[in-house]
Amino acid sequence: MKNIVLIGFMGTGKSTIGRELSRRTSWKFLDMDQLIEKEQGRTIPEIFAAEGEEYFRQLERDLVKRLSEKSRLIISTGGGTAKNPDNVADLKKKGVVICLYADVDDIYARTSRRGRRPVLDQYEDRRQAIVELLAQRQPMYDQADYKVSTSNTNLNDVCNEIIRLAKR
Ligand code: S3P
Repeated sequence: MKNIVLIGFMGTGKSTIGRELSRRTSWKFLDMDQLIEKEQGRTIPEIFAAEGEEYFRQLERDLVKRLSEKSRLIISTGGGTAKNPDNVADLKKKGVVICLYADVDDIYARTSRRGRRPVLDQYEDRRQAIVELLAQRQPMYDQADYKVSTSNTNLNDVCNEIIRLAKR
């Protein structure tokens, strides 16, 4: 079985589902946002504020290059990792790339806390920002091998579906 790589918009459940997939498969779970924060010794909002988005994207790019050489991993990416097609291509080398998606209302509810997501915090109207960014990013998420919804379902069913797809 290949690595399982979760891509998708903020609030689609990448970290929660990645952790559960890791529990079930006994494969190591790597959350890219968490790893970047650990390596940098600061939070993602702090990195965005001090260095800007481009700098963060380069950190993501460097991490993808390192991770895409490894095996037996469950990887949860950041919501913007797929913006760079090279990232998706690299992650596909040893992994099956699954895009998680959810309804706008669910994304809105799951990302409503301010101060955590610098990309959304830039906008006055958060809901509208989600709608626009989702539309803008759709072609990037469409690069995934498979898509799995995390709305109107539960953690168990989502994980069963992902494991089924990864075994194909
Ligand atoms: C981002 C999503 C975040 C994080 C950063 C940028 C984005 O990850 O990588 O704030 O551009 O969509 P989550 O999807 O885990 O919130």
